[in-house]
Amino acid sequence: MLETWLTKSLGIELPIIGAPMGGRAGGRLAGEVSKAGGLGMLGAARYATPEWIAEEVATARAAGGDVGIGLMTWSLDDDATLLDAALEYEPKLISLSFGDPAPYVARIHDAGIPVLAQVNTIDDLRVAERAGVDIIVAQGGEAGGHTGRVATLPLLQEILESTSLPVLAAGGVSTGRGLAAVLAAGGEGVLVGTILLASPETIGPDYARTRVLAAGSADTVYTPVFDQARHQPWPERWFGRALVNDFTDKFHGGGVVDDVIVDAYDPADPNVGVVYAGQAAGMVTSERAAGDVIRAMSAQAEQLLSALGAKVRNNGR
Ligand SMILES: Cc1cc2nc3c(=O)[nH]c(=O)nc-3n(C[C@H](O)[C@H](O)[C@H](O)COP(=O)(O)O)c2cc1C
Repeated sequence: MLETWLTKSLGIELPIIGAPMGGRAGGRLAGEVSKAGGLGMLGAARYATPEWIAEEVATARAAGGDVGIGLMTWSLDDDATLLDAALEYEPKLISLSFGDPAPYVARIHDAGIPVLAQVNTIDDLRVAERAGVDIIVAQGGEAGGHTGRVATLPLLQEILESTSLPVLAAGGVSTGRGLAAVLAAGGEGVLVGTILLASPETIGPDYARTRVLAAGSADTVYTPVFDQARHQPWPERWFGRALVNDFTDKFHGGGVVDDVIVDAYDPADPNVGVVYAGQAAGMVTSERAAGDVIRAMSAQAEQLLSALGAKVRNNGR
């Protein structure tokens, strides 16, 4: 049993959160992660609707699991409708990433829901602390999807040394080895995204699953080109980590004018459409059910951590 502040305060069995992943994490995935003992989150992309949230919460609950909801803070600054919708369904947790959560935290707390914030730098940590969030996620640059530039391990240590809030790690955690490392370092749990991307419970095009299965850990790129191609007005400091393909080969780093990129983008073409994924893609080698991924991760971490005490006492023997 892996009991931490996170499991106790959320009333879950395992210190593993299924990451909010816009376009990939819907109710089926979230429900299966929660049923396995973690907490699954819906990823409400910028183009998600209140109806989508309603349907996916119902799907997760029908699968037998509870659910958290992830929103993008910079997008709420334009239109907070998705926050209203999220609050209506009383999720177990709301995640606010990419921006200052301050304008939204009191409303979420008034509904009795804890707030988690993904941060990418030490300055982000201070912003999130001032906003009054409950849980910090150190999201490293090797994470899939939009993220920062500092890698998980240096960021996690810097954040753990700098805050009294509970801290989770995100970015590159794909096995019980990663989970054990985070817990041993002082983290309260992990957020996992990429390792679930070939699971049959994910949503999105079929090629997104098959391309992640075929990819290695060196096959990703940190790039703004898919946002430019799809007119997604992301603030400049957050690029997205995606699998390399014909589109990134041609346009990443090329400084090509916008309309050329927009015309060349075709989401129906598996060699052109975006597949956001992190460096943990190298560990996605089969189409495993999400619940199996979560259970195996926790069992391996438990085994490693219980062997660790004896290992260090006996000088590695
Ligand atoms: C396909 C994909 C979509 C994502 N979409 C979101 C999102 O909508 N909101 C968010 O806060 N994070 C998003 N993320 C980041 C995840 O929440 C999380 O930080 C990341 O998956 C953890 O790193 P890992 O992919 O190495 O496990 C996304 C990640 C992926 C892979």
